[in-house]
Amino acid sequence: MDAISVIRTKRDRGELTPEQIDWVIDAYTRGEVADEQMSALAMAILLNGMNRTEIARWTAAMIASGERMDFAALSRPTTDKHSTGGVGDKITLPLAPLVAACGAAVPQLSGRGLGHTGGTLDKLESIPGWRAHLSNEEMLHVLDTTGAVICAAGDGLAPADKKLYALRDVTGTVEAIPLIASSIMSKKIAEGTGALVLDVKVGSGAFMKTIEDARELASTMVALGTDSGVRTVALLTDMATPLGLTAGNALEVRESVEVLAGGGPKDVVDLTLALAREMLDAAGLKDADPEKALADGSAMDVWRRMISAQGGDVDAPLPVAREQHVVMAPSTGVLTRLDAYDIGVAAWRLGAGRARKEDPVQAGAGVELHAKPGDTVTAGQPLLTLHTDTPEKFDYALGALPDAYDIAQAGTAFTATPVVRERIA
Ligand code: URA
Repeated sequence: MDAISVIRTKRDRGELTPEQIDWVIDAYTRGEVADEQMSALAMAILLNGMNRTEIARWTAAMIASGERMDFAALSRPTTDKHSTGGVGDKITLPLAPLVAACGAAVPQLSGRGLGHTGGTLDKLESIPGWRAHLSNEEMLHVLDTTGAVICAAGDGLAPADKKLYALRDVTGTVEAIPLIASSIMSKKIAEGTGALVLDVKVGSGAFMKTIEDARELASTMVALGTDSGVRTVALLTDMATPLGLTAGNALEVRESVEVLAGGGPKDVVDLTLALAREMLDAAGLKDADPEKALADGSAMDVWRRMISAQGGDVDAPLPVAREQHVVMAPSTGVLTRLDAYDIGVAAWRLGAGRARKEDPVQAGAGVELHAKPGDTVTAGQPLLTLHTDTPEKFDYALGALPDAYDIAQAGTAFTATPVVRERIA
């Protein structure tokens, strides 16, 4: 077997054999296949695709590159959620403790933000003392004692994906559906969850800009999960506009705590409940009542125990950015569009996100929205507040916003896109 013949097969639109796939993933993980060869193969896959048989084998080879976790010793059924990433997507924060409060165990291995999309670990790290990195034993202990754990994946889980994802990130090959599906599912299957709900985002702020691409990604991942014995469903959810009223790390933690306290923006509450119902159904807990667990404070109790178990001080004030800049509505009327991608880029430029994996993020930076599509806005009233510790970034962030919103004449009819657009099982 050699890398060049594998690359040529895909370059010429051929089907990779199981032997070619097993070899190339293993040899790349061991360093025998060079980065430039894997880049060429990833680009050939982006351009020419892979069929479902190839994707399943590719995923299995990535799982086999590392360890598999085992939650069989837990007394509760395990259920997990994965979001393909968006702007203001803080749903994991209220969702994991909520589902745990309803009787499931939620092992939530999460990631960091890159580019305009936020990352759950960056958000939680704005809580003083909270630790993302746990050993496998610590992870199991937090999961067993509190019902939920949100932490970074250990180095032993699908190491081939870690290496390949970093390479895709710098070679313009992230957006290939076969590579996204196998990357996400290799980690989730290796993690050992019994049930999985995929939140596949669609719209300007998501990887998948069209509903057709989102359907293709979702059905590929549902098939991979189901064939591996993980009860898997996907919701296609709107990411044309940011979720909730905040995009940024500490800002989103604050909003998540509002949801756990029984308040919070309607779209965040609705999506949290929709995903909780799916996760509980998939775990066989059909009688659980997540709405009640939000209202009676039991989800908040799990949140407090889960954060404390990872060193976080739940009662400490959250960081606040040193400087604010308010963007006023330029006219009076109905806000008909507020673009998720533009808001995500502005939050990122303010310091909430990173350009390279090793960059630090500002805990307090981000964008606060004062209106959502469908709301009436008034000329001269606040539309957005930008937060940063580095005020020299305001102009750079404002540069992302000239086409971020549309305001139509007062009285213009507006039809909202539902948060959950489709379900694929
Ligand atoms: N998230 C992942 O884990 N992998 C991808 O390829 C894209 C998003």
